[in-house]
Amino acid sequence: MYRYLAIVLVLLGSQVHAEPLSLSVNQIRKDLAAEVVDIRVIELHESGKDKTNAVTYSGIPLDALLQYLYPKQWKTFDGIIYFHALDGYLSIVDAQKARQGGAYMTFARADGQPFMIDNRNQNERDVPLAPFYLVWDNLKDPDLQQSNSYAWPYQVYSMELVSGEMLQSLLPPGAPPSVEAGFDAYKNNCLSCHNIGGFGGRKFGMDVRQVIKGKSRDDLYDWIDNPSAINKYTAMPPLDPGVTGDNRQRVINQIIDYLQAI
Ligand code: HEC
Repeated sequence: MYRYLAIVLVLLGSQVHAEPLSLSVNQIRKDLAAEVVDIRVIELHESGKDKTNAVTYSGIPLDALLQYLYPKQWKTFDGIIYFHALDGYLSIVDAQKARQGGAYMTFARADGQPFMIDNRNQNERDVPLAPFYLVWDNLKDPDLQQSNSYAWPYQVYSMELVSGEMLQSLLPPGAPPSVEAGFDAYKNNCLSCHNIGGFGGRKFGMDVRQVIKGKSRDDLYDWIDNPSAINKYTAMPPLDPGVTGDNRQRVINQIIDYLQAI
């Protein structure tokens, strides 16, 4: 299982359906040999306000990989991509964002060192990254260097394309702009752990509509802003520390607007 990238194409709510594919890292390296590049990044898992650590990985641009895996669908696909990890983590990336470039599916360190990292936030050392690790070109982008690592899944063994229609069904019809913006923020910051009607991550099993029952706006605000101030032992991280100031207030309020609307 560790050596294979199982590709599952799920286009829910549409006519297109492709058989799951299994591809080995070696197969991808061989078939996409011309696409392999070295990509140097600030390693988010090993960096913080006090230090930054740059690492060079070998990988393939995500856009090229998707084009290879889904030659018929990818060009016009307009939903989200699930990245399933061996440790149970689910990372969710907008297809649009993947198409803009800057993302690389890596499979080794360029310097031949073991393909591992220390995950500072989770106090874990020597975490194996194989078979695949998704990184983003952040060397010249201070905002990206400050952001959290949700879109940097490691131990990725499977990917899924999930249609925009399915996703859109999570947005109440006729929703006002703040709810729509809140939905966008929810997708990028919460959905990988909190599912809605079974759609999304299962790190915390309960449907988010149950999770928020009986909670006031203020309770939700404080929790999203900084959960560990309320529960020291919580497994939930605060909202992306890269979102600061007025913008942070706005984003949190929009997420609450969305949660209350569903
Ligand atoms: C990395 C996974 C993860 C992410 C991302 C995440 N949560 Fe959570 N959340 C949890 C877990 C786990 C709990 C269970 C409680 C605990 O561990 O403290 C939780 C609990 C909650 C609760 C209940 C708090 C309580 O008092 O019972 C709410 C509300 C919540 N999350 C909302 C959100 C929202 C909104 C977002 C996005 C801004 C979000 N979560 C992002 C993992 C996550």
